[in-house]
Amino acid sequence: MARYAYVNGRYVDHREAMVHVEDRGYQLADGVYEVVGVRDGRLIDEALHLDRLDRSLSELRIAQPVPRATLKFIIRELMRRNRLRDGLVYMQVTRGVARRDHAFPGTPVKPALVLTTKNSKRAEADAGPGIAVKSQPDIRWQRCDIKTVGLLANVLAKQAARENGAYEAWLIDRQGNVTEGASTNAWIVTKGGELVTRATDNGILAGITRHTLKSLAGDLQLKLVERPFSLAEAKAAQEAFITSATSFVTPVVRIDGDVVGDGKVGPVARRLREEYVRFAAAGEAVT
Ligand code: PDD
Repeated sequence: MARYAYVNGRYVDHREAMVHVEDRGYQLADGVYEVVGVRDGRLIDEALHLDRLDRSLSELRIAQPVPRATLKFIIRELMRRNRLRDGLVYMQVTRGVARRDHAFPGTPVKPALVLTTKNSKRAEADAGPGIAVKSQPDIRWQRCDIKTVGLLANVLAKQAARENGAYEAWLIDRQGNVTEGASTNAWIVTKGGELVTRATDNGILAGITRHTLKSLAGDLQLKLVERPFSLAEAKAAQEAFITSATSFVTPVVRIDGDVVGDGKVGPVARRLREEYVRFAAAGEAVT
């Protein structure tokens, strides 16, 4: 259990960390967040996550709560206080506290900033046995490129997956294509050896892990194609996997109960996970 949380300028005991009932994040999901992975005391792709946070804020016209240098300091201070070596740093910015009204507050208020950390086992190069995913209709809004705290559709999809013995939900759009996971990006490797993931648009989050993996795949001379793929194509694929700050690269061996490939972790997902862990290990240590 993390011992401290950062709440609007103070490091407080995590058990007593609270926000105001009129916080617009709580009332209206009027806020954004970021999740940065930490491995061996190293923040993974911190700059890209902070860039995406800036973008999410500006798309919603929420001011930056603190300058970037300050935010970087807070991240490090919280990691130090919580002795975080492996896990994640969570940061959330909402439009702030104001009398409840859907429209923005008439007089601008200070955005609210909260940071927490979570410990986990150190992610290793070994991909493990792989996971099952369950398809679910993608019922989210049309700005999935913004990392907002409005995650109800993702929550319901993830819960449906878990109730069906799957770790992740794969969201299916009206055309029958896989958009992404409830909290991960989705990839397949076709029988022809092509690495396929959907192109980034308003329909998915531009994952930072996805971005980094694209360049690692390029280094390995893998043929990457960014295009939509259907659920049927995914089920017929040679391999499938998910990426995110929390799951790194995690192979998918079952989709809706159907075995992917031979049901074992394939060589491409295995290799990409190894490369990603190598990349994470090469970052600058901060704790
Ligand atoms: N989820 N798609 C969605 C809908 C996500 O919520 C996430 C991240 C991703 C992967 O993005 P990245 O590689 O930058 O983590 C894709 C975070 C980890 C979360 O909500 O916990």
